[in-house]
Amino acid sequence: MSSIAVTGASSGIGQAIAEVYASKGFDLFLGARRVEKLEELSKKLKTLGAKSVHVQKLDVCSDESVASWTMAAFEKFPKLNILVNNAGLVLGTDTIETGKIEEWATIFDTNVMGVLRVCRQVLPQFRANSHGHIVMIGSISGHHVYEGGGPYCATKHSVKALAQTLRLEVHGTGIRVSSVDPGMVETEFSEVRFRGDTDRAAQVYKGFTPLSAVDVAEAVEFATSRRPHINVDEIIIMPTDQSSVSKVNRKS
Ligand SMILES: NC(=O)c1ccc[n+]([C@@H]2O[C@H](COP(=O)([O-])OP(=O)(O)OC[C@H]3O[C@@H](n4cnc5c(N)ncnc54)[C@H](OP(=O)(O)O)[C@@H]3O)[C@@H](O)[C@H]2O)c1
Repeated sequence: MSSIAVTGASSGIGQAIAEVYASKGFDLFLGARRVEKLEELSKKLKTLGAKSVHVQKLDVCSDESVASWTMAAFEKFPKLNILVNNAGLVLGTDTIETGKIEEWATIFDTNVMGVLRVCRQVLPQFRANSHGHIVMIGSISGHHVYEGGGPYCATKHSVKALAQTLRLEVHGTGIRVSSVDPGMVETEFSEVRFRGDTDRAAQVYKGFTPLSAVDVAEAVEFATSRRPHINVDEIIIMPTDQSSVSKVNRKS
């Protein structure tokens, strides 16, 4: 019996992860703020082959919400196999000189504190079970930086540091920690960044083939389906037409 919990499963990469594991017959426990999107998705996941699908509203910026979500996940699946820290966002493209402090606070609270909150809640049970696989959805922005992306890059560098630290801290417990770090993926990510400006978001992916959410979900599936003695530390996955965070081969 295999089970997976995914944060931020209401769109993009998190949704694709849910779909990939549904097709493998997993039990799914999903969270996001837009619970109505999760409820809609759960119908599709059952047709794809999920053994069971449970959804609960989750805000990774709230201690209470994270505690209640993880407690419910372990009530359903005491031997939960995989937890994916996927929920994340970026807002705006302002420089450090011009950025808005409240937007930075949201980016850090979601991408860094959110991961910490969730890890803190799942680790005692994973430790008691002597197994459990934590997957971080990092980013190429955790390896490179770009102008106008300072706070986001700082959060994804932090996620990389958290994954590395966690591997040291769970040494010898049987718990595995992986980070899957993609380049550009066509999801709602840019729409959120540009506050609903779909035209501007579409420009981001114009003239080349970005990764799809499924491409990333398949990398997660690869990392978590190795034999127990193998820990895939890090997967960096890029579109062929993207060789750095700011170098993209656009054809038009
Ligand atoms: N797209 C890219 O190019 C790219 C590249 C590298 C890494 N990533 C990373 O991939 C992850 C997923 O992003 P995506 O591209 O799939 O974008 P997306 O389509 O916008 O999905 C983001 C997900 O995070 C959830 N989320 C945001 N804030 C949340 C909160 N406070 N509590 C709970 N859930 C929250 C959203 O759900 P609700 O709004 O319903 O809460 C949504 O399900 C992020 O960590 C992102 O940094 C993306």
